[in-house]
Amino acid sequence: MYAVEQFLLVLPWVTLHSEAALQPNIVFFVADDLGFGDLASYGHPTQEWGAIDDLASKGIRFTQAYAASSFCTPSRASFLTGRLPHRTGMYGPMFVLYASSSVGLPHSEVTMAELLKTAGYRTGMVGKWHLGMNAHNHSDGSNLPHNHGFDFVGTFLPYTLNWLCDHWQRHIPHAHRGASYLYQNDTISEQPIQLDTLTERLVQDAQTFIHTSIDDDERFFLYFPFPQTHTPMFNNAHFKGKSKRGVYGDQVNEMAWGVEQILDTLKETGVDNNTLVVFISDQGPHLEVCQEGGSTGPMKGGKGFFFEGSIRVPMIAYWPGTLPPRRDSTVVSLMDLFPTFASLSGAHLPTDRHIDGLDITPLLFPETAAPQSPRDLLTFYHESILLAVRYGSFKIHFYDLALPSDELLVANCRGTYPIINWMEGETVSRVKLPLPKIYNVEEDPREMYQLPIEDYTEMLGIVDTLIAEHEETLTDIPEPLLSKEFLSKLVIPCCNYPYCVC
Ligand SMILES: *[C@@H]1O[C@H](CO)[C@@H](O)[C@H](O)[C@H]1NC(C)=O
Ligand SMILES: *[C@@H]1O[C@H](CO)[C@@H](O)[C@H](O)[C@H]1NC(C)=O
Ligand SMILES: *[C@@H]1O[C@H](CO)[C@@H](O)[C@H](O)[C@H]1NC(C)=O
Repeated sequence: MYAVEQFLLVLPWVTLHSEAALQPNIVFFVADDLGFGDLASYGHPTQEWGAIDDLASKGIRFTQAYAASSFCTPSRASFLTGRLPHRTGMYGPMFVLYASSSVGLPHSEVTMAELLKTAGYRTGMVGKWHLGMNAHNHSDGSNLPHNHGFDFVGTFLPYTLNWLCDHWQRHIPHAHRGASYLYQNDTISEQPIQLDTLTERLVQDAQTFIHTSIDDDERFFLYFPFPQTHTPMFNNAHFKGKSKRGVYGDQVNEMAWGVEQILDTLKETGVDNNTLVVFISDQGPHLEVCQEGGSTGPMKGGKGFFFEGSIRVPMIAYWPGTLPPRRDSTVVSLMDLFPTFASLSGAHLPTDRHIDGLDITPLLFPETAAPQSPRDLLTFYHESILLAVRYGSFKIHFYDLALPSDELLVANCRGTYPIINWMEGETVSRVKLPLPKIYNVEEDPREMYQLPIEDYTEMLGIVDTLIAEHEETLTDIPEPLLSKEFLSKLVIPCCNYPYCVC
């Protein structure tokens, strides 16, 4: 009952608040596969301190923020809509969208961009999309961001950074044009991607968007998902070989440079005090790729699993002069950003659908020293299977997911074993547990010490009730779109068929 009541109570509050909405500009940075332990400000011992760490030290550094999925497409769909991946169809046995996927985030979903437009914001995007490209042929672009509420779409990667984009010999010597393309709005501008200048060009386009919005006296929302720190590790000559941490560190430093350029632009144009900057990672790091994978800090499990290292991510909120610097260990979900942006902008949340995110504005402006989490239960799904939940300081596992053994990882990193391919289901073997396993993840973030279930029967009863209430909201679940059924070679992007080189 509690969870449902709370959800209903949020609505009138949003309406009340909207009259006094602060309406900041919003700049939303997303890193790709950056782990909880990858930033100096989150404890990495050798990563250089950069602009992202400045945000963390001058803003709110969240230490218990969770992604709704440990794969790119479902996680992005969820924070852009405030809804669990399986409510939006962005789930299924293929885990993510592929170049040959003829589907994307359904147009019936309301993205953050569409939401903020209703409050008068100008919306723009540069960077990595990964929520769909074509539906009919190799260039129709039906699922691209300009069809999801973005007024301005600069340089962007419609799909993902891919090993096949790489110039680095560890993978293949030349970029594969069938998997590596850059777009400008709805048109392919480059195939394959010239990675050396990519970050610079993303930054330039984002700056153009900020300048034009300010010139036109418009409030703006900039969505800037970086291609970093996804494989392959690429760098501008300025960053290559400079980090004492190695290639991964170079990649983080180049991304931090991008953040710094945008912060400088906000300052130079005098809008920095009126701009909320949020930085997150979409999920945990891809550990199986060895020195190209990141760090989970003290936790276990990377991308593709549901352990803390898979889904607990850095999240930073920075708004100079408005949000006093602090560390916040409240349990939050990346899906909370959607209703929070609604509240700050004065936009009304859609009322014809269930929103899983909760407004965390009260955490940004706390009235007490220890603000309460707005939620009592956080669910972690793989596809539409409930693998685990977070309740208070506890994580309760209903399934076992076999992690690759340390020996296998070491062999993999020495190149004596082929790269572990969880995409093919090699490591994602789920086993339903006869009895749930309980961990106190605040004391034991590594999920090593299973608590005696007999001491927690009362808590498990409450959790069961909360899950049952949550399940009542899971009506009208669409079919899984991340499925082989929706693949077609006809939709793979190509700028000048059949050559596909521009
Ligand atoms: C691709 O499909 C779109 C939408 O159906 C159509 O307008 C366009 O002409 C097609 N392009 C090609 C090259 O076939
Ligand atoms: C992007 O493409 C759409 C569809 O072709 C067009 O309506 C829009 O004006 C373009 N936007 C920019 C900024 O070029
Ligand atoms: C922005 O806020 C800071 C800190 O409150 C203040 O020092 C600075 O003068 C403000 N800048 C502008 C342009 O108002």
